[in-house]
Amino acid sequence: MPMPLLKGAVVVDFAGRRAQDIARLVREMNFYSEVWPAFDPPERFVADRPPGVIVAGEAGDAGVRALAAALHAAGIPALVVEGDATGSGLAARIESFLKHECGLTPDWTVERFIDEQVAAIRAAAGEAGAIVCGLSGGVDSSVAAALVHRAVGDRLHTIFVNTGLMRAGEPERVEAAFRERFGPNFRHVDASARFLGKLAGVTDPEHKRRVIGEEFIRVFEEEARSIGDVRYLVQGTVYPDVIESGVGGGLVKSHHNVGGLPERMALELIEPLRYLFKDEVRRLGEALGLPRELVWRHPFPGPGLAVRVLGEVTPERVEIARRCDAIVTDELRRAGLMDDLWQAFAVLTEARTVGVRDDTRTYGYVAAVRTVTSRDAMSADWGRIPYDVLDAISRRILNEVPAIGRVVYDISPKPPSTIEWE
Ligand code: XMP
Repeated sequence: MPMPLLKGAVVVDFAGRRAQDIARLVREMNFYSEVWPAFDPPERFVADRPPGVIVAGEAGDAGVRALAAALHAAGIPALVVEGDATGSGLAARIESFLKHECGLTPDWTVERFIDEQVAAIRAAAGEAGAIVCGLSGGVDSSVAAALVHRAVGDRLHTIFVNTGLMRAGEPERVEAAFRERFGPNFRHVDASARFLGKLAGVTDPEHKRRVIGEEFIRVFEEEARSIGDVRYLVQGTVYPDVIESGVGGGLVKSHHNVGGLPERMALELIEPLRYLFKDEVRRLGEALGLPRELVWRHPFPGPGLAVRVLGEVTPERVEIARRCDAIVTDELRRAGLMDDLWQAFAVLTEARTVGVRDDTRTYGYVAAVRTVTSRDAMSADWGRIPYDVLDAISRRILNEVPAIGRVVYDISPKPPSTIEWE
Protein backbone atom coordinates (compact mmCIF):
# COMPACT_ATOMS: atom_id res chain seq x y z
CA MET A 1 0.00 0.00 0.00
CA PRO A 2 1.40 3.41 -0.86
CA MET A 3 1.89 5.96 1.90
CA PRO A 4 -0.66 8.76 1.96
CA LEU A 5 0.66 11.89 0.35
CA LEU A 6 2.07 14.18 2.96
CA LYS A 7 -0.46 16.99 3.13
CA GLY A 8 -0.36 17.66 6.82
CA ALA A 9 1.93 18.57 9.62
CA VAL A 10 4.66 16.36 10.99
CA VAL A 11 4.94 16.02 14.75
CA VAL A 12 8.41 15.07 15.87
CA ASP A 13 8.70 12.75 18.78
CA PHE A 14 11.28 14.23 21.16
CA ALA A 15 9.04 13.79 24.18
CA GLY A 16 7.81 10.22 24.01
CA ARG A 17 4.05 9.83 24.20
CA ARG A 18 3.42 13.58 23.92
CA ALA A 19 3.91 13.48 20.17
CA GLN A 20 0.97 11.08 19.72
CA ASP A 21 -1.26 13.32 21.82
CA ILE A 22 -0.33 16.34 19.74
CA ALA A 23 -0.82 14.45 16.48
CA ARG A 24 -4.30 13.48 17.64
CA LEU A 25 -5.07 17.04 18.65
CA VAL A 26 -4.05 18.19 15.17
CA ARG A 27 -6.34 15.61 13.60
CA GLU A 28 -9.24 16.59 15.82
CA MET A 29 -8.92 19.99 14.16
CA ASN A 30 -9.31 18.20 10.78
CA PHE A 31 -5.69 18.62 9.73
CA TYR A 32 -3.76 15.51 8.78
CA SER A 33 -0.65 14.77 10.86
CA GLU A 34 2.09 12.18 11.07
CA VAL A 35 4.48 11.31 13.88
CA TRP A 36 8.13 11.02 12.91
CA PRO A 37 10.81 9.81 15.30
CA ALA A 38 13.29 12.35 16.58
CA PHE A 39 16.18 10.20 15.40
CA ASP A 40 15.30 10.88 11.75
CA PRO A 41 18.10 13.14 10.49
CA PRO A 42 17.14 16.73 9.65
CA GLU A 43 17.90 15.96 5.97
CA ARG A 44 14.76 13.82 5.81
CA PHE A 45 12.65 16.83 6.71
CA VAL A 46 14.42 19.00 4.19
CA ALA A 47 14.04 16.38 1.45
CA ASP A 48 10.37 15.55 2.13
CA ARG A 49 9.40 19.15 2.86
CA PRO A 50 6.32 18.69 5.03
CA PRO A 51 4.10 21.81 5.13
CA GLY A 52 5.04 22.31 8.78
CA VAL A 53 6.73 20.58 11.69
CA ILE A 54 5.66 20.57 15.32
CA VAL A 55 8.58 19.59 17.50
CA ALA A 56 7.35 18.00 20.73
CA GLY A 57 10.25 18.49 23.13
CA GLU A 58 12.01 20.96 25.38
CA ALA A 59 13.03 24.26 23.77
CA GLY A 60 16.46 24.04 25.41
CA ASP A 61 17.16 20.48 24.24
CA ALA A 62 20.13 20.33 21.85
CA GLY A 63 18.33 17.99 19.41
CA VAL A 64 15.26 20.21 19.34
CA ARG A 65 17.40 23.28 18.73
CA ALA A 66 19.34 21.59 15.93
CA LEU A 67 16.20 20.42 14.16
CA ALA A 68 14.45 23.78 14.54
CA ALA A 69 17.53 25.51 13.08
CA ALA A 70 17.70 23.09 10.14
CA LEU A 71 13.99 23.59 9.41
CA HIS A 72 14.34 27.33 9.68
CA ALA A 73 17.30 27.33 7.28
CA ALA A 74 15.29 25.23 4.81
CA GLY A 75 12.29 27.57 5.06
CA ILE A 76 10.02 24.92 6.65
CA PRO A 77 7.70 26.34 9.35
CA ALA A 78 8.43 24.87 12.77
CA LEU A 79 6.72 25.15 16.14
CA VAL A 80 8.31 23.86 19.33
CA VAL A 81 5.77 22.57 21.85
CA GLU A 82 7.27 22.12 25.28
CA GLY A 83 6.86 18.80 27.05
CA ASP A 84 4.18 19.80 29.52
CA ALA A 85 2.14 22.28 27.47
CA THR A 86 -1.59 21.44 27.46
CA GLY A 87 -5.03 23.02 27.28
CA SER A 88 -6.90 25.32 24.96
CA GLY A 89 -4.00 27.77 24.70
CA LEU A 90 -1.92 25.03 23.13
CA ALA A 91 -4.71 24.06 20.74
CA ALA A 92 -5.11 27.68 19.65
CA ARG A 93 -1.36 28.05 19.08
CA ILE A 94 -1.22 24.90 16.99
CA GLU A 95 -4.28 25.82 14.97
CA SER A 96 -2.92 29.26 14.21
CA PHE A 97 0.46 27.74 13.23
CA LEU A 98 -1.14 25.24 10.86
CA LYS A 99 -3.43 27.77 9.22
CA HIS A 100 -1.27 30.84 9.03
CA GLU A 101 2.31 29.66 8.93
CA CYS A 102 1.85 26.35 7.11
CA GLY A 103 -1.03 27.45 4.89
CA LEU A 104 -3.03 24.29 5.62
CA THR A 105 -6.82 23.98 5.32
CA PRO A 106 -8.78 21.90 7.87
CA ASP A 107 -10.26 19.50 5.34
CA TRP A 108 -9.15 16.10 6.60
CA THR A 109 -12.36 14.19 7.37
CA VAL A 110 -13.47 10.59 7.62
CA GLU A 111 -15.39 10.85 4.34
CA ARG A 112 -12.33 12.14 2.58
CA PHE A 113 -10.19 9.42 4.11
CA ILE A 114 -12.63 6.79 2.79
CA ASP A 115 -12.53 8.22 -0.73
CA GLU A 116 -8.74 8.43 -0.78
CA GLN A 117 -8.23 4.96 0.69
CA VAL A 118 -10.76 3.32 -1.63
CA ALA A 119 -8.82 4.76 -4.58
CA ALA A 120 -5.47 3.72 -3.06
CA ILE A 121 -6.67 0.18 -2.32
CA ARG A 122 -7.99 -0.23 -5.86
CA ALA A 123 -4.68 0.95 -7.28
CA ALA A 124 -2.67 -1.32 -4.96
CA ALA A 125 -4.83 -4.41 -5.53
CA GLY A 126 -4.63 -4.30 -9.32
CA GLU A 127 -7.05 -6.21 -11.50
CA ALA A 128 -6.92 -9.79 -10.32
CA GLY A 129 -6.39 -12.07 -7.35
CA ALA A 130 -8.32 -12.73 -4.20
CA ILE A 131 -7.79 -10.63 -1.10
CA VAL A 132 -8.15 -12.29 2.29
CA CYS A 133 -8.85 -10.75 5.65
CA GLY A 134 -8.94 -12.47 9.01
CA LEU A 135 -11.85 -11.19 11.08
CA SER A 136 -11.34 -11.43 14.83
CA GLY A 137 -14.60 -9.79 15.78
CA GLY A 138 -12.61 -6.79 17.01
CA VAL A 139 -12.84 -3.23 15.80
CA ASP A 140 -9.69 -2.97 13.68
CA SER A 141 -10.07 -6.04 11.49
CA SER A 142 -13.81 -5.37 11.06
CA VAL A 143 -13.27 -1.80 9.91
CA ALA A 144 -10.35 -2.76 7.66
CA ALA A 145 -12.48 -5.46 6.02
CA ALA A 146 -15.43 -3.11 5.51
CA LEU A 147 -13.19 -0.51 3.89
CA VAL A 148 -11.46 -2.98 1.58
CA HIS A 149 -14.85 -4.46 0.69
CA ARG A 150 -16.03 -1.04 -0.37
CA ALA A 151 -13.01 -0.83 -2.68
CA VAL A 152 -12.90 -4.31 -4.23
CA GLY A 153 -16.28 -5.93 -3.44
CA ASP A 154 -16.36 -9.68 -4.03
CA ARG A 155 -12.64 -10.03 -4.44
CA LEU A 156 -12.47 -9.81 -0.65
CA HIS A 157 -12.78 -13.08 1.28
CA THR A 158 -13.14 -12.81 5.04
CA ILE A 159 -12.22 -15.59 7.43
CA PHE A 160 -13.43 -15.70 11.02
CA VAL A 161 -11.66 -18.36 13.05
CA ASN A 162 -13.54 -19.40 16.15
CA THR A 163 -10.71 -20.44 18.44
CA GLY A 164 -13.02 -21.66 21.18
CA LEU A 165 -11.47 -18.91 23.30
CA MET A 166 -14.07 -16.27 22.51
CA ARG A 167 -16.44 -14.53 24.89
CA ALA A 168 -20.06 -15.61 25.30
CA GLY A 169 -22.11 -14.90 22.16
CA GLU A 170 -19.09 -13.68 20.21
CA PRO A 171 -19.22 -16.03 17.20
CA GLU A 172 -22.93 -15.27 16.84
CA ARG A 173 -22.25 -11.51 16.98
CA VAL A 174 -19.62 -11.75 14.27
CA GLU A 175 -21.98 -13.84 12.12
CA ALA A 176 -24.75 -11.27 12.54
CA ALA A 177 -22.46 -8.39 11.62
CA PHE A 178 -20.84 -9.94 8.56
CA ARG A 179 -22.81 -12.80 7.05
CA GLU A 180 -25.14 -10.52 5.16
CA ARG A 181 -22.48 -7.98 4.23
CA PHE A 182 -20.01 -10.49 2.75
CA GLY A 183 -22.37 -13.36 1.80
CA PRO A 184 -20.52 -16.47 0.62
CA ASN A 185 -17.23 -14.60 1.02
CA PHE A 186 -17.60 -14.78 4.80
CA ARG A 187 -16.13 -18.00 6.18
CA HIS A 188 -16.80 -19.01 9.73
CA VAL A 189 -14.37 -21.75 10.70
CA ASP A 190 -15.07 -23.51 13.97
CA ALA A 191 -11.58 -24.54 15.00
CA SER A 192 -12.26 -24.65 18.74
CA ALA A 193 -11.44 -28.33 19.14
CA ARG A 194 -8.12 -27.84 17.35
CA PHE A 195 -7.07 -24.88 19.47
CA LEU A 196 -8.11 -26.44 22.76
CA GLY A 197 -6.38 -29.67 21.76
CA LYS A 198 -3.10 -27.85 21.07
CA LEU A 199 -3.33 -25.95 24.35
CA ALA A 200 -3.67 -29.07 26.48
CA GLY A 201 -0.96 -29.04 29.14
CA VAL A 202 0.37 -25.59 28.15
CA THR A 203 0.62 -23.22 31.11
CA ASP A 204 3.21 -20.57 30.22
CA PRO A 205 1.61 -17.36 28.84
CA GLU A 206 4.08 -16.83 25.99
CA HIS A 207 3.89 -20.51 25.08
CA LYS A 208 0.09 -20.17 24.90
CA ARG A 209 0.44 -17.18 22.57
CA ARG A 210 2.86 -19.07 20.32
CA VAL A 211 0.61 -22.13 20.13
CA ILE A 212 -2.42 -19.99 19.31
CA GLY A 213 -0.51 -17.86 16.78
CA GLU A 214 0.79 -20.95 14.99
CA GLU A 215 -2.53 -22.73 14.90
CA PHE A 216 -4.16 -19.58 13.63
CA ILE A 217 -1.71 -19.46 10.74
CA ARG A 218 -2.37 -23.10 9.93
CA VAL A 219 -6.14 -22.66 9.83
CA PHE A 220 -5.81 -19.48 7.84
CA GLU A 221 -3.48 -21.11 5.30
CA GLU A 222 -5.85 -24.01 4.80
CA GLU A 223 -8.74 -21.67 4.14
CA ALA A 224 -6.69 -19.47 1.82
CA ARG A 225 -5.62 -22.53 -0.18
CA SER A 226 -9.22 -23.50 -0.74
CA ILE A 227 -10.06 -19.97 -1.92
CA GLY A 228 -7.46 -20.24 -4.68
CA ASP A 229 -5.62 -17.30 -6.24
CA VAL A 230 -4.94 -15.34 -3.04
CA ARG A 231 -2.49 -12.49 -3.53
CA TYR A 232 -3.23 -9.94 -0.83
CA LEU A 233 -3.76 -9.94 2.89
CA VAL A 234 -5.66 -7.22 4.74
CA GLN A 235 -4.38 -6.36 8.20
CA GLY A 236 -5.96 -3.99 10.68
CA THR A 237 -2.66 -2.46 11.80
CA VAL A 238 -3.32 0.93 13.41
CA TYR A 239 -1.08 3.98 13.72
CA PRO A 240 0.13 3.49 17.31
CA ASP A 241 1.44 0.03 16.27
CA VAL A 242 3.36 1.67 13.45
CA ILE A 243 4.73 4.46 15.61
CA GLU A 244 5.67 2.14 18.43
CA SER A 245 7.33 -0.43 16.22
CA GLY A 246 9.58 2.36 14.94
CA VAL A 247 10.58 3.36 18.42
CA GLY A 248 11.79 -0.06 19.56
CA GLY A 249 11.88 -1.29 23.15
CA GLY A 250 11.84 -4.70 24.79
CA LEU A 251 9.18 -7.33 24.34
CA VAL A 252 6.56 -7.36 27.07
CA LYS A 253 4.04 -9.67 25.42
CA SER A 254 4.10 -10.96 21.86
CA HIS A 255 0.73 -9.82 20.54
CA HIS A 256 0.06 -12.48 17.99
CA ASN A 257 -2.73 -11.10 15.79
CA VAL A 258 -1.81 -12.57 12.43
CA GLY A 259 1.91 -11.98 12.74
CA GLY A 260 3.87 -14.47 10.69
CA LEU A 261 1.33 -14.83 7.92
CA PRO A 262 2.92 -12.57 5.32
CA GLU A 263 6.34 -14.24 5.41
CA ARG A 264 4.95 -17.72 5.14
CA MET A 265 2.33 -17.04 2.55
CA ALA A 266 4.21 -14.46 0.48
CA LEU A 267 1.18 -12.22 0.30
CA GLU A 268 1.16 -8.52 -0.30
CA LEU A 269 -0.13 -6.54 2.64
CA ILE A 270 -3.00 -4.10 2.52
CA GLU A 271 -3.12 -2.07 5.75
CA PRO A 272 -5.70 0.64 5.21
CA LEU A 273 -5.76 1.79 8.85
CA ARG A 274 -2.05 2.19 9.35
CA TYR A 275 -2.32 5.98 9.62
CA LEU A 276 -5.33 6.06 11.95
CA PHE A 277 -5.64 6.28 15.70
CA LYS A 278 -8.16 4.02 17.41
CA ASP A 279 -10.86 6.68 17.85
CA GLU A 280 -10.54 7.51 14.15
CA VAL A 281 -10.92 3.83 13.28
CA ARG A 282 -14.15 3.83 15.27
CA ARG A 283 -15.50 6.89 13.49
CA LEU A 284 -14.56 5.30 10.19
CA GLY A 285 -16.41 2.11 11.18
CA GLU A 286 -19.56 4.08 11.89
CA ALA A 287 -19.25 5.94 8.59
CA LEU A 288 -18.97 2.57 6.82
CA GLY A 289 -22.22 1.44 8.46
CA LEU A 290 -20.87 -1.15 10.92
CA PRO A 291 -23.06 -1.79 13.99
CA ARG A 292 -22.37 0.65 16.81
CA GLU A 293 -22.07 -2.22 19.26
CA LEU A 294 -19.19 -3.68 17.27
CA VAL A 295 -17.43 -0.41 16.60
CA TRP A 296 -17.38 0.78 20.20
CA ARG A 297 -16.65 -2.52 21.87
CA HIS A 298 -13.73 -3.01 24.19
CA PRO A 299 -10.49 -4.42 22.79
CA PHE A 300 -10.14 -8.17 23.20
CA PRO A 301 -6.77 -9.92 22.96
CA GLY A 302 -6.10 -12.22 20.01
CA PRO A 303 -5.39 -15.23 22.30
CA GLY A 304 -8.76 -14.57 23.89
CA LEU A 305 -9.76 -16.29 27.09
CA ALA A 306 -6.57 -18.37 27.03
CA VAL A 307 -4.74 -15.46 28.69
CA ARG A 308 -7.57 -14.98 31.16
CA VAL A 309 -7.51 -18.58 32.31
CA LEU A 310 -4.33 -18.68 34.34
CA GLY A 311 -2.42 -21.92 34.06
CA GLU A 312 -3.80 -24.75 32.01
CA VAL A 313 -6.52 -23.98 29.48
CA THR A 314 -9.10 -26.76 29.53
CA PRO A 315 -12.57 -26.52 27.94
CA GLU A 316 -14.10 -26.58 31.43
CA ARG A 317 -11.90 -23.77 32.74
CA VAL A 318 -12.54 -21.67 29.62
CA GLU A 319 -16.25 -22.10 30.16
CA ILE A 320 -15.95 -20.96 33.80
CA ALA A 321 -14.02 -17.84 32.71
CA ARG A 322 -16.57 -17.20 29.94
CA ARG A 323 -19.49 -17.32 32.34
CA CYS A 324 -17.80 -14.99 34.83
CA ASP A 325 -16.86 -12.63 32.02
CA ALA A 326 -20.43 -12.49 30.72
CA ILE A 327 -21.66 -11.51 34.19
CA VAL A 328 -19.07 -8.72 34.49
CA THR A 329 -20.09 -7.31 31.11
CA ASP A 330 -23.77 -7.70 31.81
CA GLU A 331 -23.68 -5.86 35.14
CA LEU A 332 -21.46 -3.06 33.84
CA ARG A 333 -23.74 -2.60 30.85
CA ARG A 334 -26.76 -2.53 33.11
CA ALA A 335 -25.07 0.17 35.20
CA GLY A 336 -24.24 2.14 32.04
CA LEU A 337 -20.50 1.96 32.74
CA MET A 338 -19.13 0.07 29.75
CA ASP A 339 -18.40 3.17 27.68
CA ASP A 340 -16.41 4.73 30.54
CA LEU A 341 -14.05 1.77 30.66
CA TRP A 342 -11.30 0.72 28.29
CA GLN A 343 -11.67 -2.96 29.17
CA ALA A 344 -13.53 -5.03 31.75
CA PHE A 345 -13.30 -8.76 32.26
CA ALA A 346 -12.92 -11.67 34.62
CA VAL A 347 -9.83 -13.76 35.17
CA LEU A 348 -9.94 -17.34 36.37
CA THR A 349 -6.98 -17.81 38.70
CA GLU A 350 -5.40 -21.08 39.77
CA ALA A 351 -5.83 -20.23 43.44
CA ARG A 352 -8.30 -22.38 45.40
CA THR A 353 -10.13 -21.09 48.41
CA VAL A 354 -12.11 -22.50 51.30
CA GLY A 355 -15.76 -21.49 51.61
CA VAL A 356 -19.07 -22.74 52.92
CA ARG A 357 -22.28 -23.40 51.04
CA ASP A 358 -25.37 -25.01 52.61
CA ASP A 359 -23.30 -25.86 55.70
CA THR A 360 -20.82 -27.74 53.58
CA ARG A 361 -17.18 -26.87 53.06
CA THR A 362 -16.32 -25.83 49.51
CA TYR A 363 -12.95 -25.48 47.83
CA GLY A 364 -13.54 -23.36 44.74
CA TYR A 365 -11.44 -21.14 42.47
CA VAL A 366 -10.73 -17.47 42.98
CA ALA A 367 -12.07 -15.28 40.16
CA ALA A 368 -10.63 -11.80 39.72
CA VAL A 369 -12.57 -8.93 38.21
CA ARG A 370 -10.48 -6.40 36.29
CA THR A 371 -11.74 -3.12 34.85
CA VAL A 372 -9.42 -0.43 33.53
CA THR A 373 -9.57 3.07 32.19
CA SER A 374 -7.00 3.97 29.55
CA ARG A 375 -6.56 6.00 26.40
CA ASP A 376 -4.40 3.65 24.45
CA ALA A 377 -3.53 0.60 26.61
CA MET A 378 0.06 1.81 27.06
CA SER A 379 -0.82 2.85 30.58
CA ALA A 380 -4.01 2.18 32.50
CA ASP A 381 -5.66 2.70 35.84
CA TRP A 382 -8.08 0.43 37.64
CA GLY A 383 -11.73 1.39 37.26
CA ARG A 384 -13.39 3.16 40.17
CA ILE A 385 -16.52 1.04 39.99
CA PRO A 386 -19.32 1.81 42.50
CA TYR A 387 -19.47 -0.70 45.34
CA ASP A 388 -23.04 -1.71 44.54
CA VAL A 389 -22.01 -2.71 41.00
CA LEU A 390 -19.06 -4.70 42.34
CA ASP A 391 -21.42 -6.26 44.83
CA ALA A 392 -23.87 -7.29 42.09
CA ILE A 393 -21.03 -8.79 40.03
CA SER A 394 -19.63 -10.72 42.97
CA ARG A 395 -22.99 -12.09 44.14
CA ARG A 396 -23.97 -13.18 40.66
CA ILE A 397 -20.67 -14.93 40.01
CA LEU A 398 -20.85 -16.75 43.34
CA ASN A 399 -24.48 -17.74 42.74
CA GLU A 400 -24.33 -18.61 39.09
CA VAL A 401 -20.86 -20.14 38.68
CA PRO A 402 -20.51 -22.93 41.24
CA ALA A 403 -16.83 -23.51 40.54
CA ILE A 404 -16.01 -20.08 41.96
CA GLY A 405 -15.55 -19.79 45.71
CA ARG A 406 -14.32 -16.21 45.99
CA VAL A 407 -14.32 -13.01 43.92
CA VAL A 408 -11.61 -10.35 44.20
CA TYR A 409 -11.24 -6.97 42.50
CA ASP A 410 -7.94 -6.04 40.86
CA ILE A 411 -6.73 -2.56 41.91
CA SER A 412 -3.41 -2.57 40.05
CA PRO A 413 -2.44 0.24 37.66
CA LYS A 414 -0.34 -0.26 34.52
CA PRO A 415 2.56 0.08 34.92
CA PRO A 416 3.69 -1.94 36.71
CA SER A 417 0.86 -4.44 36.17
CA THR A 418 -0.25 -5.11 32.61
CA ILE A 419 -3.93 -5.03 31.70
CA GLU A 420 -4.18 -8.77 31.09
CA TRP A 421 -2.95 -11.02 33.87
CA GLU A 422 -0.88 -13.14 31.50
P1 XMP B 1 -1.31 -5.62 28.33
O1 XMP B 1 -1.85 -6.82 28.99
O2 XMP B 1 0.02 -5.82 27.67
O3 XMP B 1 -2.32 -5.33 27.14
O4 XMP B 1 -1.36 -4.39 29.20
C1 XMP B 1 -2.40 -4.16 26.37
C2 XMP B 1 -3.55 -4.35 25.41
O5 XMP B 1 -3.27 -5.39 24.50
C3 XMP B 1 -4.20 -6.45 24.64
N1 XMP B 1 -3.44 -7.70 24.54
C4 XMP B 1 -3.33 -8.43 23.42
N2 XMP B 1 -3.86 -8.25 22.20
N3 XMP B 1 -2.83 -10.23 21.47
C5 XMP B 1 -3.61 -9.16 21.22
O6 XMP B 1 -4.10 -9.04 20.10
C6 XMP B 1 -2.24 -10.48 22.67
O7 XMP B 1 -1.53 -11.45 22.86
C7 XMP B 1 -2.52 -9.51 23.70
N4 XMP B 1 -2.11 -9.40 25.00
C8 XMP B 1 -2.70 -8.28 25.49
C9 XMP B 1 -4.86 -6.24 25.97
O8 XMP B 1 -6.17 -6.80 26.00
C10 XMP B 1 -4.86 -4.74 26.08
O9 XMP B 1 -5.91 -4.15 25.33
